[in-house]
Amino acid sequence: MKVALCGLGEIGQIHLKAIRESGARLVAVCELDRDLAAASVGDEVPVFSDIEEMIEQSRPDVVDVCLPHHLHVPVAVTALRSGCDVLLEKPMAADLAGCDEILAVAKETGQRVGVSHNQVHFDPHRRLRHLIDSGDIGEIRSIYERLWMGGKYGGWREDAAQVGGGLLMDAGVHRIYMAEYLGGPVRSVTAVMDSPRSEDAFVLTLDFESGALGVIQGGYHGPDGVFDDRIEIQASEGMVEVLGCEAFFEGDLEGDLRLRARINGVWAEDPVVGHWDQSVMASVKAVLDDFEAGRDPEVGLAEGRAAVAVVEAAYRSAETGRTIPMSELDERKA
Ligand SMILES: NC(=O)c1ccc[n+]([C@@H]2O[C@H](COP(=O)([O-])OP(=O)(O)OC[C@H]3O[C@@H](n4cnc5c(N)ncnc54)[C@H](O)[C@@H]3O)[C@@H](O)[C@H]2O)c1
Repeated sequence: MKVALCGLGEIGQIHLKAIRESGARLVAVCELDRDLAAASVGDEVPVFSDIEEMIEQSRPDVVDVCLPHHLHVPVAVTALRSGCDVLLEKPMAADLAGCDEILAVAKETGQRVGVSHNQVHFDPHRRLRHLIDSGDIGEIRSIYERLWMGGKYGGWREDAAQVGGGLLMDAGVHRIYMAEYLGGPVRSVTAVMDSPRSEDAFVLTLDFESGALGVIQGGYHGPDGVFDDRIEIQASEGMVEVLGCEAFFEGDLEGDLRLRARINGVWAEDPVVGHWDQSVMASVKAVLDDFEAGRDPEVGLAEGRAAVAVVEAAYRSAETGRTIPMSELDERKA
């Protein structure tokens, strides 16, 4: 299977490593920064700066998109219409209309789309999902997730038009899809933010279809070096906390302990280990394996759209002061 990779920035570098380690063959890259491209792939594959030209000349089966958010839709649409399957970094698109456009073109062309919601592949998160599925902690009643960061991202992330919003539409998307991965579909969203659609801080309350409640809290306002992305679950028979995911990669947390659980009245440290960068690699490899096997990916159109829909609901809630039922955003669900 031939793969072309667009974008060799922070996350593109990890995708590059994952593609090289997978059974797929890298056939081209698209990157505007020629020095970065040369340092990343040398003479291994041709380097392009135009997506159409890249597809025409390298004829990939898969186009992997690691570009700023506003480029996800045009690149995905071009690739799908050229007969390629598409792997998109999160978020699927910078807004809901973009997700629906990708959905429509995927349906029309019959091509597959995978979205890299990499934290679903973080071993402690999968272990937590297993504890839920096994019934060991009973029914989930509350989910609490944090994204506390010290210092703002720069570059294209300073332009809300390229991001499709602020922190919530960027790193916050990991909190959203993890909430649905653990708690199931969200029924409604109530949110407050400092500045919706270019927010530096937000609090979301989620009402899940299961009856569970969730809180997601995020902000850029921590002291330098802070990266706190913990998850806590309160369930009828137990409690679980995952101390962090990217927090360990960023160096704010150290040590081997990732997950603690209180089951049958006793708190215990779980031996599960996991690393954020490995979750990105696993996510890329899983989608490529699914494309190769002709299967729809575990995280695809429906999950990608659902995450962006919750972000949009949060923006509408913060703008209007209303609780937003997800049914308002369901018109063209996958
Ligand atoms: N899964 C994660 O944890 C995670 C982490 C970081 C970023 N991301 C996602 O990955 C995507 C990229 O983010 P990043 O942090 O790698 O950004 P980045 O700025 O580090 O890299 C983007 C790269 O794209 C290149 N580029 C920009 N426009 C281009 C164009 N028209 N044609 C070809 N190349 C172009 C830039 O030169 C740059 O090298 C975003 O969707 C982001 O949300 C995900």
